[in-house]
Amino acid sequence: MPISFELNGQTVAFDVDPDMPLLWAIREKAGLTGTKFGCGIAQCGACTVHIDGAPARSCSIPISAVAGAKVLTIEGLSSKTALAVQASWQKLNVVQCGYCQSGQIMSAVALLNDTPKPTDDDIDTAMSGNICRCATYNRIREAIHDAATSI
Ligand code: FES
Ligand code: FES
Repeated sequence: MPISFELNGQTVAFDVDPDMPLLWAIREKAGLTGTKFGCGIAQCGACTVHIDGAPARSCSIPISAVAGAKVLTIEGLSSKTALAVQASWQKLNVVQCGYCQSGQIMSAVALLNDTPKPTDDDIDTAMSGNICRCATYNRIREAIHDAATSI
């Protein structure tokens, strides 16, 4: 039986193995390749999406677990907070190779949704699960503070 959920505001249904990682469904079934595969074991954050508003590692969540849920990927970001984050990312040239950045932005938006004026400690805690092999951490922190000023 197809597993149905909301993906970026649209109802989708995929007739797949219930154990298929959500990330596979997003990339291979829905064709949304902005969400990246890094480690596959919930350790790097490259695959971060929002499930019912909370950041989650889509590589380690079976698609059956999101039946009826609202899943948001980088392609679906449109809120004022999300646009502020994206603008600050561009303004401060955060991105280096880019591979981790979808996940970084999804975590940053989730943080600012909950904590509109985060401290450095808030940022470090919220972003600690998102690894960047290019070490853009300082620019990420700066961009989150910058976005917070325009929300
Ligand atoms: S690919 Fe999911 S946390 Fe690394
Ligand atoms: S920008 Fe290269 S891994 Fe983060």
